[in-house]
Amino acid sequence: MEKKWWKESVVYQIYPRSFMDSNGDGIGDLQGIISKLDYLKTLGIDVVWLCPVYESPNDDNGYDISNYQGIMHEFGTMADWEELLAGLHERGMKLIMDLVVNHSSDEHAWFVESRKSKDNEYRDYYIWRPGKDGKEPNDWGSFFSGPAWQYDAQTDEYYLHLFSTKQPDLNWENPKLRREVYDMMTWWLDKGIDGFRMDVINVISKEPGLPDSSDGSGSGEHYINGPRVHEFLQEMNREVLSKYDIMTVGETVDVTPEEAVLFAGSDGKELNMVFQFELMGIDSGPTGKWEVAPWKLTRFKEIVSKWQTKLEGKAWNSIYLNNHDQPRLLSRFGHDGEHHNVSAKMLATLLHTLQGTPYIYQGEEIGMTNVRFETIEEYQDIETLNMYKDYLSKGHDAAEIMESIYAKGRDNARTPMQWNGEAQAGFTTGTPWLAVNPNYKEINVELALNDPNSVFHYYKKLIELRKQHDIIVYGKYAILNEENEQIYAFTRTLGEEQLLVVLNFYEKPADFKLDQEIRFQSKELLIGNYEVSVDEDFHQLSLRPYEARVYKLQGVK
Ligand code: GLC
Ligand code: CA
Repeated sequence: MEKKWWKESVVYQIYPRSFMDSNGDGIGDLQGIISKLDYLKTLGIDVVWLCPVYESPNDDNGYDISNYQGIMHEFGTMADWEELLAGLHERGMKLIMDLVVNHSSDEHAWFVESRKSKDNEYRDYYIWRPGKDGKEPNDWGSFFSGPAWQYDAQTDEYYLHLFSTKQPDLNWENPKLRREVYDMMTWWLDKGIDGFRMDVINVISKEPGLPDSSDGSGSGEHYINGPRVHEFLQEMNREVLSKYDIMTVGETVDVTPEEAVLFAGSDGKELNMVFQFELMGIDSGPTGKWEVAPWKLTRFKEIVSKWQTKLEGKAWNSIYLNNHDQPRLLSRFGHDGEHHNVSAKMLATLLHTLQGTPYIYQGEEIGMTNVRFETIEEYQDIETLNMYKDYLSKGHDAAEIMESIYAKGRDNARTPMQWNGEAQAGFTTGTPWLAVNPNYKEINVELALNDPNSVFHYYKKLIELRKQHDIIVYGKYAILNEENEQIYAFTRTLGEEQLLVVLNFYEKPADFKLDQEIRFQSKELLIGNYEVSVDEDFHQLSLRPYEARVYKLQGVK
């Protein structure tokens, strides 16, 4: 397998609004991030993915961009941004920027022009259509509730917005628009960035004629992996990406491994890797993410194994268990109470021993958890607020909706980073834009740094191991004991070396018997979240709550 720096890297995702506030206005900012660069270096990460910091009216916290080449005033200035980039590079870390080009803000100069008249030169930068029988042009629904079309009286037409009404979709059919995007990307790359994370990049190509959905659900069949998406990405690759030694990761909704191989194939024609969502749907019911459903470990393993094996040698995985759009991994897949420490480490072990590039979302490395605000007024996220209104109007019970928000709402991940046990968790000297999780006195960076047994130090060690053992990066994955409902066990193999990873996913202790004999010459326990006696035979184990072990075996036959 071809060696690449982005395969060997660990990425740390920063959601700037919630990371660190330097000037007491309650909003995280670039100088705040700069003040924490040594912290990131201590953790050992290689690459920072910075969520959008561009000018934006913040309808969707920066994912609605009004100027792609300017910095959001609340976050600082271009000089601050340059200082951040230099500070990362000086410390041997890289920076990838969020690229949000499926849509812009309705306050972007292009859209301000576009909506003025049907013959405006920017009209065709967006997707405008007349209504059909006094209604929307088709039945597509927005990801943020309601129809995906907004009527605009000025020209008596509707514009398409797959997300909020303030996020009009850009028209990728227009070569002039594509040229603008490529020039803007080149401009950032020439400033020295190391790559892009591309927001919902597999919905940029819409089926010509914009037909209704065939089943009346208004779903994404006519724009998810639309007809020209690969053509557009190959063009972008030719025009821009291929000219730089960078890393690219595409956020792709609803893709199969077969499609992922097209987007992120090792032939390098499009992107380096994709974020796929299959695992993130594991606890959703038929009506979608807000319908919280129980999940089973066998299903979890099936999904992960499918991606591990189908991409092997063909494309590269990105490995994440949470981000700014998802609940906290610990509350979702682990135990955020009594077993907080061990379960966070168990999940971290999985994240760092699968094949693919691991992504750590800010606060994950100290075991931050979901939050339960009492009232809807305390929430800020547009997706959550729109859903709340929509569900109430459809007759759902308010208390029930709150339970869905506690389990799945995006603000779970967006509460301010917990730096210490002082007021507002040390995030701000003012009033934070979103309340701090009340558990900050027990869960914070200061405590974590001072405790050698902390989740933080375990993440640090996992990252170090990746640098020391090629097999962690390149080894081939194989599942063991597939049917086991409590234990996730698998191997990674490279030449005569093998990693054996055994994870108890539950509180209940588990007796584990390996369903196959592994013969080897020597073994070493690379990492685990409990004390272990060295000569224990891993073919037969008594695993404690959420126990995780990683053995490295030499001379495997
Ligand atoms: C992506 C982002 C999310 C945003 C949406 C619209 O899914 O991760 O935060 O709301 O795209 O840009
Ligand atoms: Ca600030």
